[in-house]
Formats: sequence, structure tokens, C-alpha cells
Amino acid sequence: MRNIVILTGAGVSAESGLGTFRDVGGLWTRFDLNDVATPEGFARDPALVHDFYNARRKNCRESAPNAAHAALARLEREWPGEVLVVTQNIDDLHERAGSRAVWHMHGALARALCGACGHRWDAGEEMAPQDPCPACRQPATRPDVVWFGEVPYLMDEIFEALTACDLFVSVGTSGEVYPAAGFVQLAGEAGARTLELNLEASANARAFDEQREGPATRVVPAWVEEMLGVSELG
Ligand code: NAD
Ligand code: APR
Repeated sequence: MRNIVILTGAGVSAESGLGTFRDVGGLWTRFDLNDVATPEGFARDPALVHDFYNARRKNCRESAPNAAHAALARLEREWPGEVLVVTQNIDDLHERAGSRAVWHMHGALARALCGACGHRWDAGEEMAPQDPCPACRQPATRPDVVWFGEVPYLMDEIFEALTACDLFVSVGTSGEVYPAAGFVQLAGEAGARTLELNLEASANARAFDEQREGPATRVVPAWVEEMLGVSELG
């Protein structure tokens, strides 16, 4: 078993204090996603959307990576094969824990995107609708985040990684949003073993070869310890 692809969702950052979406008290129980996570919502009220993401940026700055992020970074350092994290999260906690191969399929809070010319730059602490794009100077600034109805990033590269991996692990995602929710089938059909590590069984739990339930800060470090113990056995 050489190459591992790990899909993460909001649950891996929950114990760092960042909200999930569909749990009790989740973001979509407090905000209307049509207002803050769709292109139509942004066109209607860009200031509201920027405020929503500025608040999440602040929350992210005030949070720290947890033991699950640290364990995945350790696995990347010590595992004899490839370890790739494909995250649905827009926070930077994987990177701050030391993971280097991290693909953000839903974009990243840390980046801004120009809706006019496509230029990307560091978002800084706050963004506002009238901020001019550094490249074309037009006030078409938006968060570099993939909204409902938009195509997630890096899908060709992700499909290639899924069909080439030996082990696919899903951590902290409800399995309710596609295309990420379909990754387990893709990897399994290509011959990978599949494992779900989640607080509770997700919507697509039955698609996995194995499931372990519990908080990510407990189940992920335990799984990494086990994997590295096996790898030492050669
Ligand atoms: P979606 O979940 O509505 O659907 C994605 C695609 O999968 C659609 O083509 C849909 O028809 C298809 N699909 C949905 N349910 C399916 C099922 N049961 N079986 C097979 N196919 C199914 O997501 P979306 O509206 O296309 O949004 C695109 C991406 O943007 C999603 O991955 C979403 O998670 C992401 N997003 C990110 C944020 C953020 O804050 N980062 C916010 C909202 C959405
Ligand atoms: N440890 C492990 N799993 C947890 C923890 C925890 N401490 N806390 C919550 N979870 C699990 C929940 O059981 C749930 O299955 O994390 C999952 C969170 O699910 P969602 O809130 O739906 O978040 P996510 O799956 O990342 O959403 C997918 O939907 O709105 C879009 O783009 C957004 O990326 C997001 C996508």
C-alpha cells in the first residue's frame, strides 16, 4: 500500500473551533447558503458575502490546527509512499500543521479572486466589494471560494489521484455534497481500499470498506500511529 489520498471536510477542523455546515449549530443552520455561498447571492449583496467570509477569516486566524491536522502532516513526513490531502475546507489549518501536498477543491479563504480578469492574490485580513483588483484595477473582488453551482477546482487532477491511489480515507465530511461525496466510489472501483474516519456514519458510509467513528482528534492520530507501525514492519 503506497499512495494514500485523504479527503477532508469541515469535521477535521471542528475541534479547532471552526464551524461545520450541517451539524447542529452548523453554518447553514445560521446563514442562508443562497445568500452567502452562491454567485447569485454575491451579485445581490457583495458586502454581505464579504462580511461572511471576513468573519470566517477572523475565526480561522484565531484558531489553531488540532491533533488530526498534525497527525496527517506526520503521515506525509514519515510514510514511505505518497500522501495527498484533498480538502473541501477553505481554511489553512492543514498547511499550518505542516502538510505540504494539500489541494483545496473549494478554494481558500486566504486568496482573493477578480471576477473580471481572473487574477488571484492574497486576501489579507479583510476584503470589501470596492477593493480594486491589483491587476485590472476593476472593483470585481470576490473570495476565491467555490460556491454552489460552480465547478470545484482541480477535478481532473483529483480524479487522476483517486484512480491511482491504494488507500482512500475520508475524514470529517457528511458525504452530502458532490462531487466530493462520489470520490469513495471512484477510488474503490479503481481498486483502492477505502476508510471513513468521522464523528458518526456519513450519508455515504456504506460505500466504504471500513468505518471508524469518533472525534477526528482521537481517531485520526490513532489511525496514523497504526499505519506508521505497519510501515516500520516493512
Ligand atoms: P451540489 O452538491 O449541489 O452538486 C454538485 C454536483 O453533484 C451537481 O452537478 C449535482 O447535480 C451533483 N449531485 C448532487 N447530488 C448528487 C447525487 N446524490 N448523486 C450524484 N450526483 C449528485 O454542489 P454544487 O451546487 O455543484 O456546488 C459546487 C461545489 O461548491 C460543491 O462541492 C460545494 O461543496 C461547493 N461549495 C463550497 C462552499 C464553500 O463555502 N467553500 C459553499 C457552497 C458550496
Ligand atoms: N471529528 C470528526 N468528524 C466530525 C467532527 C469531529 N470533531 N465534528 C463533526 N464531524 C463530522 C460530522 O459528523 C459531519 O459528518 O463532520 C461532518 C461535517 O459535515 P458538513 O457540515 O456537511 O461539512 P462538509 O462535509 O465539509 O460539507 C461539504 O458543503 O457547503 C459545502 O463547500 C461546503 O465544503 C463544504 C461542503
